Order: sequence, then C-alpha cells, then structure tokens
Amino acid sequence: MGDLARLLKESWSLVEEHQDKVAGYFYARMFLSHPDLRDLFPVHMDVQRARLLNAIVTSVQTLEDPERFGEYLRALGRDHRKFHVEPEHYEVVGGALIEAMRAFAGEQWSIEYDQAWADAYAVIASKMLAGAEADENPPYWYAEVVAHERRAKDIAVFTVLPMQPLEYRAGQYLSIECSKYQPRLWRTYSPANAPRRDNTIDFHVRAVGAGWVSSALVRRLQVGDMIKVAAPMGSMTLDRRSTRDAVFVAGGTGLAPIKSLLEELTRYNRTRWVHVFFGARTREDLYDLADLNRLAARYPWLSVVTACSDDPTFPGEQGEISDVVARYGPWQEHDFFVSGAGGMVRSTLKKLAELQVPSVRIKYDSFNE
Ligand SMILES: Cc1cc2nc3c(=O)[nH]c(=O)nc-3n(C[C@H](O)[C@H](O)[C@H](O)COP(=O)(O)OP(=O)(O)OC[C@H]3O[C@@H](n4cnc5c(N)ncnc54)[C@H](O)[C@@H]3O)c2cc1C
Ligand code: HEM
Repeated sequence: MGDLARLLKESWSLVEEHQDKVAGYFYARMFLSHPDLRDLFPVHMDVQRARLLNAIVTSVQTLEDPERFGEYLRALGRDHRKFHVEPEHYEVVGGALIEAMRAFAGEQWSIEYDQAWADAYAVIASKMLAGAEADENPPYWYAEVVAHERRAKDIAVFTVLPMQPLEYRAGQYLSIECSKYQPRLWRTYSPANAPRRDNTIDFHVRAVGAGWVSSALVRRLQVGDMIKVAAPMGSMTLDRRSTRDAVFVAGGTGLAPIKSLLEELTRYNRTRWVHVFFGARTREDLYDLADLNRLAARYPWLSVVTACSDDPTFPGEQGEISDVVARYGPWQEHDFFVSGAGGMVRSTLKKLAELQVPSVRIKYDSFNE
C-alpha cells in the first residue's frame, strides 16, 4: 500500500465509528460558511444525510490510483452539473470534509493526515472539474410527460419528450429528477426504447416500498408535468460485431433496458437467436407482456419465456427467473444481458457462473447497487 493510501485509511479509521456525526458536522460546517449551498441538497437531508460524505470518502480511499479512474471521475464531474455544483464549491466541500474529520479524531489527528486528504481530494476534484468543463451538453434536459399509464398497482409506464435532443445508447440509463413532487432527488432509470426520431423516451418504473422518487413517478406524475433528465450512463450496450446468440434476463421493471436493446436488435438483426426470460412475482407484474409477445410474433429470431415466483396458477414457468434460465440452455456460447433488482441480478450471476458462462460475456445492471 502506498504512503498516501496508508495515511488515508489510518486517519479514516479514527473517525469511522462516528460517521453519522461526522456527516452532521460536515454539512453544518458547509451550510454555515456557505448558506447558498443548502439549496443544492434535498429538502429532507435525513433521508440521505451521509450520501455525499460517504461518496467522497469512498472515492478518496478507493481511488489509490486516480489515473485508472480518470474516466469515472470525469463522468462524475460532468454529472455533478445537474446538482448545480460550480467549480468554487469544490474547495468549500474539501475544507468542510477535513475539518469534520479533524473535529472527531481528537488528539490523534496529525498534520500529515490533513495533507494526505487535501492532496487526494485535490487530484479527484481536478479530474471532476476537467470532466465538467469539457462537457458540451446541458447539465440536464427538461422533458414533458406526454403519456402516463398505470400497468399494475405499483408499476407505471410513461413517455417523455425532452425539449432538446438527448443522445443515449440502447441499454444505458439516465438520471431523473421528478421536479414538481420531489425536487433535488435524482435517481437512475433506464429508457425502455432505442433512440427514436421523435426523441420521445419511455420509462418503466416500479414504486418500491417507501421510495421517494419511484412513488412520485408512479403515483403522482401526470401528463403535462415536466421532469429533468440528465446524462446517459452505463455500458450494458450491444456490441454490433458480436455474432453470438443472446440471452436477456429481466426481473420486473428490469425489462426496461432489455426492451431498449431488443428494439435496437429489431433494426439490424438477421442472424442471431435471441431469448428473453422475463420474471416477476405475479402475473400482474409482467406488465409489458402483450408488447413482448407482439415482438416475438413479428421476429422469428426472438423467443420469450415468462415466469412467476409467487403465482401458482400462472400458466408460464414457475420459480425464480435465475432457476428458469438454468432449466434451458446450454448457454456457454451466448452473450448475456441481465437487469433487475439486486437479489435477482446476484442470483442470476451466480447461476451463470455455475453454468460456466464466461463472465466477459455477461453485462448487467443491478437496480439497488
Ligand atoms: C442502473 C440503474 C437503472 C435503474 N433503472 C430502473 C428502471 O428502469 N426502473 C425502475 O423501476 N427502477 C430502476 N432503478 C432503480 C431506481 O434508480 C431507484 O433506486 C428506485 O426507483 C428507488 O428509488 P426511490 O427514490 O423510490 O427509493 P429510495 O427513497 O431511494 O429508497 C427507499 C427505500 O427503498 C429501498 N429500495 C430502493 N430500491 C429498491 C428496490 N429496487 N427494491 C427494494 N427496495 C428498494 C431502499 O433501500 C430504501 O429503504 C435503476 C437503478 C439503477 C442503479
Ligand atoms: C471529490 C469531490 C466529490 C466527489 C468524489 C463526489 C461524489 C459524489 C457521489 C458519488 C454522489 C452520489 C451521486 C448520485 O447519487 O448520483 C454525490 C452526490 C452529490 N454531490 Fe458530490 N462529490 C464531490 C464533490 C461535490 C461538491 C464540491 C459538491 C457541491 C456542493 C457536491 C454536491 C453533491 C450533491 C448535491 C449530491 C447529491 C446529494 C444527495 O442526493 O444527497 N459534490 N457526490
């Protein structure tokens, strides 16, 4: 371990157990010295009080070699423009961070630790700033809701029209702020269509438990409302050069990016067999089956298998979608795309490893990781 990394880890261990208090102090320090910064953060700070602090500490500590993470940091800097972060804010945040740690570490804190954090933070901030500066796109796009349909108790499918063209690739995700109902809270959602000429984008959203943004998008959003959409991210995209057959595994609204990838394939595929496995707890949650079946009827290379884990009379497959995938196959020669909630993605990856599918052929997006 390098000297800098050792100093960062050593000093963080002095305050780690008081993380929550360090976060409280960090924000208080920052908002006292710069009250205008309060407006950048969500209304209910208790919800995600430690989000930024944790994010910075993790970045600083895990990025022992910032050069290796250059692209990630530039993208993070570009993305921070959606929070209205300006270059001069970086110094304020860095200062508050070090002061907060110093305040809780007590006498064991040393000037060496100050220097280590200042150095590491400066390198990271400079890469984020370079990313922000180089980006020619707007920090976010306003988009009008042009259709909104409840497909199940907790699921909505809606369409937005960005006010300016927004480029993304099928399989990527965007972040959304549901400005009217949950200002300043951003969450990521995957377009459910390949880019269209008319620029409209479909989203499939499931309201999770007490989820702030998903509940608003499902239960409150209406046609005519404006949302904000920012920066496409993610690499679960198609490799046009691949000639392998493909398997798409979707759990619930994890279908969104899979549908987007399928739509892209319908534009050029003539040679690859494509299998979609779509699973949910009950048949009501297979909210987009009619459309999937329409695609399967139209494209002879496409087959769709559906499964319910909690609906004993469902006429399709029974069980977790990862187990269902394993019943078909063999799969060693296929490209895989997996998308859904954390548990579903984890168990599918585990199953694929048991089936000896090489990990380089698997792309995935996990909703809660
Ligand atoms: C790459 C990516 C793409 C995504 N694409 C989609 C998409 O297309 N459609 C979609 O519906 N969602 C998608 N998500 C999930 C989405 O970003 C939010 O995490 C989700 O909507 C919850 O946000 P929230 O503000 O409502 O909940 P929060 O207020 O953030 O969380 C509230 C509570 O719910 C819990 N929770 C959060 N997420 C889940 C979950 N998935 N299952 C169970 N409990 C949860 C939290 O732990 C917390 O306790 C995607 C996530 C990622 C990372
Ligand atoms: C080294 C510097 C920084 C790093 C590594 C960093 C990292 C992060 C990360 C990873 C997130 C979570 C992203 C997400 O949820 O989409 C985040 C959120 C955020 N960051 Fe930063 N950040 C840095 C500097 C700053 C600065 C200078 C500001 C200006 C005040 C800032 C303001 C925010 C805000 C407002 C959020 C959203 C917080 C929330 O939702 O609670 N960040 N940051």
